[in-house]
Amino acid sequence: MKKDLISITDYTKEEYLRIMELAADFEKNPNQDLLKGKVVASLFFEPSTRTRLSFETAISRLGGRIIGFADVGSSSVTKGETLHDTIKMVSNYADLIVMRHPLEGAARYAAEISAVPVINAGDGANQHPTQTLLDMYSILKTQGTLDNLNIFMVGDLKYGRTVHSLLMAMSEFQNPIFNFIAPDELLLPEEYKMHLREKGIRYFEHREFTDIISAADIIYMTRVQKERFADPIEYEKVKNVYILRGKMLENTKSNVRILHPLPRVNEIHTDVDKNEKAYYFEQALNGIFTREAIIAYTLNLK
Ligand code: CP
Repeated sequence: MKKDLISITDYTKEEYLRIMELAADFEKNPNQDLLKGKVVASLFFEPSTRTRLSFETAISRLGGRIIGFADVGSSSVTKGETLHDTIKMVSNYADLIVMRHPLEGAARYAAEISAVPVINAGDGANQHPTQTLLDMYSILKTQGTLDNLNIFMVGDLKYGRTVHSLLMAMSEFQNPIFNFIAPDELLLPEEYKMHLREKGIRYFEHREFTDIISAADIIYMTRVQKERFADPIEYEKVKNVYILRGKMLENTKSNVRILHPLPRVNEIHTDVDKNEKAYYFEQALNGIFTREAIIAYTLNLK
């Protein structure tokens, strides 16, 4: 049976830990010829820098070849070809499909059509499971554990697919505490809060971004996503609602690390970049090792 990765809940806790183990191995030895003779399709129907380039780096470091598109405008979708037909065709050409799409559920639909495994590289505001696995690898590397962590999630918790996936995954570990900081317009959807309540996990919601962050082990900043707003005036109201500045980190714990899936706009001031608690650029680098691990695991190469 093919092993798709569409939602973070497609993997068990044991599989998360296996990916972490493989990622650590790839970090020590990134160049391994496991994909020799294989072709991976990289289909990006929505813009990306890190996800696409780190996947393509991972494929290259594993000795595989890449086909696909970074700009949907260069594909036959512009002539009216459906997602169904595009995936049907590409799954005849490649051994694996990595796909980003603006529509929620598009990756699951593609997996149903495709004869080869599909990895979701982000579907609308829904899920971004490979980001979550690299986020978890970054948390594990910086905290030494995935248990007993106080995780603050800040910004766009409504449309933020990385937040949704990370929350689901971290809720599998022991005693997490979640603190959600978002404006009224961008609150975490009820279904995720219900999930936490059902698992008996503590969470707190805040509107203000204040010295409460002094309790954090992880501060997960997110961008307010302009592309998800139907009304530009609504975006203007909230776009700069929270900005993390270097001074705000003075009374935080020594182990706290600032994560951000990137790209950032204004939500992390550049004066944080040199702070030893900033980890977002290292986090993006971890994406290569984690995606090598996901590809190897998906294709049973390890
Ligand atoms: N983190 C992330 O998904 O970044 P890109 O949109 O640049 O791929």
